[in-house]
Amino acid sequence: LFSGRVEFLLSAPQLKFIPGADFPEVAFCGRSNVGKSSLLNALTGRKAIARTSVTPGRTQELNFFEVGEPTQFRLVDMPGYGFAKAPVKVVEKWRSLVRTFLRGRVVLKRTLVLIDARHGIKPVDEEMMKMLDEAAVGYRLVLTKADKIKASELEATADKVRAEARKHPAAHPHLHITSSEKGMGIAELRAAVLADLRT
Ligand code: GTP
Ligand code: MG
Repeated sequence: LFSGRVEFLLSAPQLKFIPGADFPEVAFCGRSNVGKSSLLNALTGRKAIARTSVTPGRTQELNFFEVGEPTQFRLVDMPGYGFAKAPVKVVEKWRSLVRTFLRGRVVLKRTLVLIDARHGIKPVDEEMMKMLDEAAVGYRLVLTKADKIKASELEATADKVRAEARKHPAAHPHLHITSSEKGMGIAELRAAVLADLRT
């Protein structure tokens, strides 16, 4: 299914611009530069359907992508959080946009919370996870950029993240370990996301 049509639909800086709740959705969130756009590209098998960037905080809107012909579901690339030097107003706008979206989106089947394998869960990730717990939106934790660290360090971080996940009611118990660069864990995550979309 992911191998069919994948198309950028629209970019919504405010909730009034989001598309109707017409299809099941899965959203991608995580700190700026964690690899959200890269993972979206890897899952859909596209090189650059979602714009990746070297400048953190590039994606400041909710970006919607449609998959399937006719459309079967949508993927939502959420604005990154936690970038240094962000003005209070920008952070407030982010929080209100994301929280309202999560609370009201009935077609949202699951969210992926991406965690950089080199850094593990940061306080801003905790805040995101709490927001999802409160909105009762189930999420999968996904370690990204696994190719960037040694296997031993990767296992240590993975163990910590799994332990943390157990404290969060809306977190799925399974931790996905991925590298968009090397294709690691991508097929497994794709299958899990497809299953989520069908529930
Ligand atoms: P914002 O939209 O700015 O919040 O960033 P993002 O989370 O969408 O991150 P993006 O996908 O743009 O990736 C950020 C940087 O990390 C880019 O330079 C990517 O090439 C790099 N990157 C992403 N995934 C991987 C990976 O699995 N391995 C490696 N080595 N680099 C990666
Ligand atoms: Mg991005």
